[in-house]
Amino acid sequence: MTDERIISKVIDENQVYGLLTGNCEDILAKIPDDSIDCVITSPPYWHMREYSITEEDCDSVIGTETTPEQYVMRLTRIFSQLRRVLKVDGSVWLNLGDKYHNKNLMGMPWRVALAMQEEGWVLRNDIIWHQMKGTQSAKDRLRDVHEHVFHFVKSKKYYYDTDSIRIKPSKLPIINDKETISATGVNGKKYRSQILTSKDLNEDERAQALKALDDTLEKIRIGELVDFRMTIRGAQRTYHSNNSKISGRAKELATKGFFILTSKAKGYLPSDVWNIVPEDEWRKDVHYAVFPTELLQVPIKATCPVGGIVLDPFMGTGSTLIAANQLNRRGLGIEISEEYMKIAKSRLETPQLCFSI
Ligand SMILES: C[S@@+](CC[C@H](N)C(=O)[O-])C[C@H]1O[C@@H](n2cnc3c(N)ncnc32)[C@H](O)[C@@H]1O
Repeated sequence: MTDERIISKVIDENQVYGLLTGNCEDILAKIPDDSIDCVITSPPYWHMREYSITEEDCDSVIGTETTPEQYVMRLTRIFSQLRRVLKVDGSVWLNLGDKYHNKNLMGMPWRVALAMQEEGWVLRNDIIWHQMKGTQSAKDRLRDVHEHVFHFVKSKKYYYDTDSIRIKPSKLPIINDKETISATGVNGKKYRSQILTSKDLNEDERAQALKALDDTLEKIRIGELVDFRMTIRGAQRTYHSNNSKISGRAKELATKGFFILTSKAKGYLPSDVWNIVPEDEWRKDVHYAVFPTELLQVPIKATCPVGGIVLDPFMGTGSTLIAANQLNRRGLGIEISEEYMKIAKSRLETPQLCFSI
């Protein structure tokens, strides 16, 4: 089957995945404009040895460039193709690790990110993938345990399903006829007595503080909030800057006499540090760095609508497509190594891994 036919089966006929073998620099040109919802990828890092490539494919493989500048230029060219195929509200998630050269840390992820910004990409997040473990040969520096995952968008208004990635609170408030108790056991009685006895609040501030406390407890009772903390002028030590020019909370404390921090029942958004152990696998002489499924969840859920298409131009063993299918999205993968393509095919053919959309 031709590449064009494989691409059309996914884009036009809703086939759940399509696999394309070859150099993504050539194959991307065959994908129509504005057809992809989300790209998630991890190109080979600069000067990282690639074990699975035949001699004749060597120059086509990314990462073999002599200088960092050549590597950055080549990746930027590929990303301008990706920009063309991406829908206007689409996203790119780019995972990159760094490299030491002559003892010097090269800052490769940020070199690429800055070059992409120059090309017009909007950078929304730099996620630190904390890999929790790391081998170390050098004795004169610290262990490396992180890589970057950059989230880029094509335009400032982009698809982002915030609610799909919220972390739900682990405990819920207790509500009965007698009282309302927040998820961490706060019922407001201590704050009420601090407000009533405070010598640092005037009568108007006291009334405002009591009203705000009652409103917050009501929001917990009706399920809008799950938790809160209140800081009252003069009643507690504050843990933020006392300078109201630099701290919004200090300003509130100075002007209103109190402030309230709340946790919403809908949950909160994940942070930009992800603690995920990599799923490296070793098979005889072959080593491949597989994307952990956990790493793919947020990018797919937040930035590809259900039924949409996720593209990985450096697919490796197919993890991105597997996660996309599991989450009811379609997937297109490009991989230069026949060996990795074989592994990807067999992983994707495992029926329990894939659902139809
Ligand atoms: C870091 S690995 C990706 C691993 C992948 N995320 C996974 O979960 O298996 C990078 C992949 O890019 C492939 N590659 C290198 N140059 C390429 C090119 N020009 N076109 C397509 N694939 C390429 C390599 O063979 C390798 O499998």
